[in-house]
Amino acid sequence: MSKEIVLSGIRPTGNLHLGNYYGALSKFVRIQNDYDCNFFIADLHALTTNPDPTQLHASVKTILAEYLAAGIDPDKATIFVQSDVPEIAEMYLLLNMHVGIGELMRTTAFKDKARKALGITATDENDEQIEREIIGNETNKRVNAGLLTYPTLMAVDILIQKATKVPVGKDQLQHLELTRRFARRFNSFYGVDFFPEPYDFDFGGAPVKVPGLDGSGKMGKSEGNCIYLIDEPKVLRKKVMRAVTDEGPQTPNSPMSEPIANLFSLLELTSTPEVVKHFREAYADCSIRYGDLKKQLAEDILAVTTPIRDRINDILGNEDYMRKVLAQGAEKARERASKTLADVREIMGIRKF
Ligand code: TYM
Repeated sequence: MSKEIVLSGIRPTGNLHLGNYYGALSKFVRIQNDYDCNFFIADLHALTTNPDPTQLHASVKTILAEYLAAGIDPDKATIFVQSDVPEIAEMYLLLNMHVGIGELMRTTAFKDKARKALGITATDENDEQIEREIIGNETNKRVNAGLLTYPTLMAVDILIQKATKVPVGKDQLQHLELTRRFARRFNSFYGVDFFPEPYDFDFGGAPVKVPGLDGSGKMGKSEGNCIYLIDEPKVLRKKVMRAVTDEGPQTPNSPMSEPIANLFSLLELTSTPEVVKHFREAYADCSIRYGDLKKQLAEDILAVTTPIRDRINDILGNEDYMRKVLAQGAEKARERASKTLADVREIMGIRKF
């Protein structure tokens, strides 16, 4: 029986952080033996925020080294760069003909990015303000069309490989929902049973959202609250020791404030159940010392990241190997992509005589 197709990608916007690791990369490694796995570097998606070209060149290399260092095996999984598969760009154009501007504008990720670009504070009530700024100000180039059509491109990444399982963090689930909607719409418009509907990879348990160390929200590059896989031990310890806390529990079994709950979330990801239990009990009976918790957390994170960091540096020194991995990956990814694209062109009525 053929294996189920898995696909996922990460944008090359710098080094990978613990959010990327627990939300995506560590899962990639876990499933590569049992599925037809395809992991890519989403450089076209990175272009939506207009990165510096020199930095983008460097980031693609970094992400590849980080994929390999974390344990993705190019003989088991297909590893490729999105722009090495030109079929994706063509199908992006074709699928956009079936995507509404309104549904794209309502996407949470788009609204967040548009607000940020326009300097508007985040509330649910300012959708109209975003629209006014975007539509009413023709010199405003900060919210580009690529940012709006980001979900179409992501849907194409998935659908062109006919992937059914997509391991991602919680923040990407809405994009996955849109992908299913686009697939259904395409199938029903043309009366075909062509695209399968992709779902998040179910590992049991809740979707992963790695928090930042600044007390609220998720860990993210633009939030400036990241622990990177590549962080030197000294830097990493310092970041953890500086994490926001509160004045400590005042009465037994009191509820946790967000910054403390976040520290426990990180501890749960990186430490053993015994360690987590120990600190939970200490919190419950008010004997907890946050300094001890942070020290333990820093060491447990380092136990995960140190071996990866060592390998990243080795791999970055071997460009020939990296080039070979990408050439082999692009060839495999294009095989299925070109077949899907040829079918889509035919279904949509592009000339074939
Ligand atoms: P990107 O580059 O923002 O993030 C890559 C992956 O890391 C996960 N992630 C997190 N998970 C948990 N907690 C966090 N704090 C955290 N921060 C990041 C993300 O959920 C993601 O899985 N649009 C995608 C890239 C992409 C893609 C695709 C993914 C393009 N095409 C097709 C899957 C399938 C993105 O921007 O990821």
